[in-house]
Amino acid sequence: MSTDIHRGLAGVVVDTTAISTVISETNSLTYGGYPVQDLAASRTWEEVAYLLWHGDLPDAGQLADFRAAERAQRGLDRAGAELLARLPATCHPMDVLRTAVSYLGAQDPTEDDADPAANYAKSLSLFAKLPTVVALDVRRRRGLDPLQPDPALSYAENFFHLCFGAVPPADVVRAFEITMILYAEHSFNASTFTARVITSTLSDLYSAVTGAIGALKGPLHGGANEAVMDMLAEIDDPARAEQWLDRALAEKRRIMGFGHRVYKNGDSRVPIMQAALDQLVSAHGDARIRRTADLYGRLQRAMLARKGIHPNLDYPSALAYHLMGFDTPAFTPIFVMSRITGWTAHVTEQLHANVLIRPLGAYTGPRQRPVPAGA
Ligand code: ACO
Repeated sequence: MSTDIHRGLAGVVVDTTAISTVISETNSLTYGGYPVQDLAASRTWEEVAYLLWHGDLPDAGQLADFRAAERAQRGLDRAGAELLARLPATCHPMDVLRTAVSYLGAQDPTEDDADPAANYAKSLSLFAKLPTVVALDVRRRRGLDPLQPDPALSYAENFFHLCFGAVPPADVVRAFEITMILYAEHSFNASTFTARVITSTLSDLYSAVTGAIGALKGPLHGGANEAVMDMLAEIDDPARAEQWLDRALAEKRRIMGFGHRVYKNGDSRVPIMQAALDQLVSAHGDARIRRTADLYGRLQRAMLARKGIHPNLDYPSALAYHLMGFDTPAFTPIFVMSRITGWTAHVTEQLHANVLIRPLGAYTGPRQRPVPAGA
């Protein structure tokens, strides 16, 4: 047995997967073999969600059935809504989401944790309900009553409706769909691996998703999209970008939204998201947004010049969500609304050929010693 230590499991291949491939050398990402930039250019979010669960894109009939099933399951029961409304307003929205998934798991009486069809049904139900939960929390933090889902609207349109009571222009809705497509799946990242570890013990899908939400919350992972916006707010003045960065680097601070464990020459998803963001800023950016976009560009150029480090997807997504009107603490929960597809596809894949995930640790504590006599 090898005693080599791979801290952070960097570079370690732990299993096979047919869901997506990240090829860092060519900066490419495919879902079921399809390049993500082609999916983002030509397919709806619902089609990509279907692809991740079924391994192929839907035909017209399959898509119609999928859409109907999603639209029919968006509602949250009254007890659930009341439970979430009672959580302290001081808690992070990711805590609300984690509690919501736990609640939905407790409400599900089934004991078919290893059945792929049952797990698909649970995944689709969570996919449909998470926007309702996120929007409910967005509104309560603004002192507003929740709105009811509208089955006449697409997934993305309905989410805007649930948050703001209105659907924005089609190009804004499409930019939101692009964030959903890009965030959906990324191989054995920290939160997906968490879901697979939990599944490997033959625990249930809700537990796997609850754990994955906890892993995604951290600022080194999904929490970075919120941290990016906080950082841009902290710098505030575009003229201060370089000076702020030099100081932050001198203090050994992590610059949020930059760097990646797998991609070292740029994140494959950034060019697509950057194009969507540029379009949003030019079509909908007011003076305040254009000022923040100036700061954003200066910081990105300075980071590349100083450290040679490229932005990751959280960098452009953060500004895009801000421009769309979402409050910063909602950014990571929105990421969950997308990544629920990848997580649950991995739960099914893990169960299909399960092996308990149980690594070793190299012990560095005191040498074995006798227990002293008690006092
Ligand atoms: N800011 C400053 N320095 C950085 C950053 C950063 N964002 N990212 C990497 N570095 C530097 C490190 O300081 C280190 O330098 P050193 O060798 O001189 O000490 C070097 O680059 C390598 O960094 P590691 O931490 O070893 O790289 P790792 O692969 O472990 O880190 C991580 C990846 C955690 C994402 C890191 O880049 C980071 O902290 N980024 C900021 C948080 C972030 O944006 N997370 C989102 C990830 S993408 C996603 O979840 C969608």
